[in-house]
Amino acid sequence: MNKALSVNSLLSINDLNINDLNLIYKTATYFKEIINRPIKKVPTLRDITIANLFFENSTRTKISFELAEKRLSSDIINFSAQYSSLNKGESLIDTVNNILAMKVDIIVLRHPSPGAAFFLSKNINSIIINAGDGSHEHPTQALLDSFSLMEKFGDLKNKNIAIVGDILHSRVALSNIYVLKKMGVNIRVCGPKTLIPRNIESLGVDISYDLIDTLKWCDAVNMLRVQNERMNLKFFPSNREYSQMYGLNNDVMKKLNNEIIILHPGPINRGVEISSEIADSDQAIILDQVENGVAIRMAVIYLLAKNIKIKNAD
Ligand code: CP
Repeated sequence: MNKALSVNSLLSINDLNINDLNLIYKTATYFKEIINRPIKKVPTLRDITIANLFFENSTRTKISFELAEKRLSSDIINFSAQYSSLNKGESLIDTVNNILAMKVDIIVLRHPSPGAAFFLSKNINSIIINAGDGSHEHPTQALLDSFSLMEKFGDLKNKNIAIVGDILHSRVALSNIYVLKKMGVNIRVCGPKTLIPRNIESLGVDISYDLIDTLKWCDAVNMLRVQNERMNLKFFPSNREYSQMYGLNNDVMKKLNNEIIILHPGPINRGVEISSEIADSDQAIILDQVENGVAIRMAVIYLLAKNIKIKNAD
């Protein structure tokens, strides 16, 4: 296995090859063991400074990146757009270039605009990690989802994985499709017709509008939240009707003869896409996903930072 990533930034999961994926999973397995020790920290990145730029709300991703950076002993800057000079008219590029002038090595960016991380990569000279760009991609979420599935199933080749809900507005869906296709998974997306993007079958996935049929087919299901904050139209009549058609609850589970693993990227809208009894059941691995998020982000940061160290040593 090649010991370095083939990329200098993590903008899209599609930029990673299978060797990159295996290297990230192997490194995350090592870091997961470390963060479960009484002393959870390694001195590896003492000489690296990371800026977390979050232009959109986040609980899991923001805390997970910050913890990953702290566990690696890097220095951290947490930038809050709300209290910054962006409000005085400063551009994203000027903001980031000013931060980089203070000798920051890595930028972690969450932004509401699809393509923001890619745009930044074309205009600044730094390592960038895409922590979610609008409805486009969420690469580290897909890495932690696939890593969590591998912990349950081992090799994912020929497994049947369903992604259910608001596929149209979901960055998690696209990044999961990209990563799972690379691993030989059969993927089915399911949801109301209005929330399934046109031409999604060109990505090599099946489409279903029938939740029970999809759940009977799959080994695992990733239940997505309805992204109300990205909708300026009504895509279905009401949360109650959505839940009746596409919500995962005990009544739905009773109709299945197969055991399935249940994922959810969070935040959960309890009672809409998933009921509390299912979200908190033994079949759900939602908190495993969150735990694995720290190890995966440590792996991504460590492997990208290694490129800086190699460059500095030359
Ligand atoms: N899964 C995820 O991205 O959650 P946050 O929006 O809370 O970071």
